[in-house]
Amino acid sequence: MQEIKERLIVALDVDTLQEVEELVELLGPHVGMFKVGLQLYTSLGPKVLQTIHAKGGKIFVDLKLHDIPNTVAQASRVLTAYGVRMFNVHASGGLKMMAAAARAVEEAAREKGIAKPLLIAVTVLTSLGEEDLQEIGLKGSPEETVLKWAKLAQEAGLDGVVASPRESSLIRAACGPGFLTVTPGVRPQGAEQGDQKRVATPREAIRQGSSYLVIGRPITAAADPVRAAQAILAEMEEGLC
Ligand code: C5P
Repeated sequence: MQEIKERLIVALDVDTLQEVEELVELLGPHVGMFKVGLQLYTSLGPKVLQTIHAKGGKIFVDLKLHDIPNTVAQASRVLTAYGVRMFNVHASGGLKMMAAAARAVEEAAREKGIAKPLLIAVTVLTSLGEEDLQEIGLKGSPEETVLKWAKLAQEAGLDGVVASPRESSLIRAACGPGFLTVTPGVRPQGAEQGDQKRVATPREAIRQGSSYLVIGRPITAAADPVRAAQAILAEMEEGLC
């Protein structure tokens, strides 16, 4: 059985290598992975991955790849060769693009003799509502599109999707318990919501069947990040009961 801390991913939404080093050193023993997103990757480039790996951290690269199948496949090869544990592509890139990424990951991992990273699809960004989807020509509710794209990602051979905690249970029902859900928008009991709109507590997110929780500021901006992470792990444990 996977330890609960393996299911906690800390979003490193910072700009400097020094902040990364401090957070990874502090939090390494307490969390499962560190998320490197657009902000950090654009500031520091792939050397940030080496820095985190050198400190023993596992990495989720959140670059949400979206391009023609060949380009996404080549970028997927590179990320796999860097030894990251998880990365993502946009489901709206289509079945062929996702399948090309999945094949590239398997081939690159085999060639390198390393474990295959988990390949996750981004479905509908949580910043988009029904009207925004209509504007870009997508009919129906965001939930309908999320489910349709989650099934497409599964058909393409991906390991799971990014989803809001509320969508997690729908996706599990549609795709089965083996299909992973990676959930941002989590706020511990009594914490600031910040700019997150549809939030769930760590307990609720685990209850809803989220496989991994992505949490940033409630940990990284806390006066004591280790204590904040430990309190979140305790809330996650409650969700298992
Ligand atoms: O600080 P906070 O806990 O809000 O960080 C959540 C992280 O998850 C951020 O890096 C954010 O970009 C990411 N994310 C999100 N909502 C999505 C997809 C990703 O908050 N739908």
